[in-house]
Amino acid sequence: AIAGTTSTPSADFVVVANRLPVDLDHGVDGERRWTASPGGLVSALEPFLRSRKGAWVGWPGVPDVEVAEFDDDGLVLHPVSLTAAEVSNYYEGFSNATLWPLYHDVVAPPVFDRSWWDSYVRVNHRFAEASAAVAAHGATVWIQDYQLQLVPAMLRELRPDLRIGFFLHIPFPPVELFMQLPWRAEIVRGLIGADLIGFHRPGGAQNFLWLARQLVGLEPTRGAVGVRSRPGMVQVGDRTVRVGAFPISIDAAGLDTLARSKSVAERAKQLRADLGNPKAVLLGVDRLDYTKGIDLRLQALHELLHEERLKPEDVTFVQLATPSRERVEHYQRMRGEIEQMVGRINGEFARVGHPVVHYLHQSVDRTELAAFFSAADVMVVTPLRDGMNLVCKEYVATRADLGGALVLSEFAGAASELTSAFLVNPHDLDGVKNALEAAITLDPAEGRRRMRAMRRQVLTHDVDRWARSFLQALGAEPVG
Ligand code: ADP
Ligand code: G6P
Repeated sequence: AIAGTTSTPSADFVVVANRLPVDLDHGVDGERRWTASPGGLVSALEPFLRSRKGAWVGWPGVPDVEVAEFDDDGLVLHPVSLTAAEVSNYYEGFSNATLWPLYHDVVAPPVFDRSWWDSYVRVNHRFAEASAAVAAHGATVWIQDYQLQLVPAMLRELRPDLRIGFFLHIPFPPVELFMQLPWRAEIVRGLIGADLIGFHRPGGAQNFLWLARQLVGLEPTRGAVGVRSRPGMVQVGDRTVRVGAFPISIDAAGLDTLARSKSVAERAKQLRADLGNPKAVLLGVDRLDYTKGIDLRLQALHELLHEERLKPEDVTFVQLATPSRERVEHYQRMRGEIEQMVGRINGEFARVGHPVVHYLHQSVDRTELAAFFSAADVMVVTPLRDGMNLVCKEYVATRADLGGALVLSEFAGAASELTSAFLVNPHDLDGVKNALEAAITLDPAEGRRRMRAMRRQVLTHDVDRWARSFLQALGAEPVG
């Protein structure tokens, strides 16, 4: 429930992200309404921040609107406006057609455009100013993700009294790839404005430390960076900047409880019945993004059907794909390819009333999503590169029944935690096919053993633990 506007209280704890946790949307009736924002960053941070009653600075998701700050169930939201040109240059351009593909192993070629960079600098400055206007003296400000990598240094310049953290939600690339970026030194200098820079994995932190030496001439410590411990350190004038690894997670207990509810169990049963109660329900849940490998899993399924290793009457594949970044060219192309493959598979293998692939280019709510997870025998997560991937953790959190199997790409950050999944190299199509077949025919006792191990990991390493470990390393929260 959104309760009117409030005056600016100076906040002690501020999250800054490109997006607010809610998006301003236009309903069919033309009326404006707020809906949940897409993506893992919001899924992870929102429950944590609500429990803290913090402030959130971000964009309301549509161009050219001015919205006053407002209170959303105790969370104070501070909208930052973007013009249509900024959405196109800063957001779709530099953030999502330069940095996104560059940081995801150049699975699509990044575009280097100087006017996009200028827009990125200007918008980062606006976010820094908005954050400076919201934060109380000595407050903790936690800046999120690749869209805002210049904000730490800009904000420090404006407000040296603040404690500043930065977390990158996507992979930090190998140094050879990062070095392609014409503005590489500026990005490193921007991040160095923080007191703590966090990555999902030690490798990302290590890459960043190497670049700080190479591009800015700093002298970082040389020891190996640990997970949630032993951050690297760099002296920058009289400041010590820490650089560490903090694998993000989900509100595991919340999802576990939701999935145990009667309504979810009933809905899951209904979904299976609607699908014709096949022997195996396979499920994919992603933003429609070319890094997610949706095309690969469809191709694997197609070949398995062709080779008669799977029978069309035995399997149903459900792909939920949230619309994402629809004006960016690579996203348009990938959508076309995926929709063509869905058509081809159903064209060859469906019977009337029984498609093999159910494709929904839609977002579903949390309860419905939990029902899909509960109904799925095999969860298929095959990104070519993913910082963490929360979907696989969500699947595990919903399976208190110890049913189901997870096929997971080695190139998702989560693979180093969910080692009891069927781990696959998504570039190896035969390997993906073998893993799908093994997961479908899995012995139930072996399945329970794997699921138990994965649940132990996810339930003890939830988003609250992630946030606390980051804030403790930032010195913003007592250790204990
Ligand atoms: P990314 O942040 O790249 O989108 P993640 O796997 O980390 O990838 O997070 C995706 C989040 O979006 C998860 O919380 C997932 O449940 C949610 N999500 C993805 N697709 C859908 C969908 N079709 N409907 C509802 N939620 C979705
Ligand atoms: C990923 C990114 C987030 C982003 C989300 C949704 O999770 O790490 O920063 O918000 O995708 O993408 P969008 O471009 O719609 O914000």
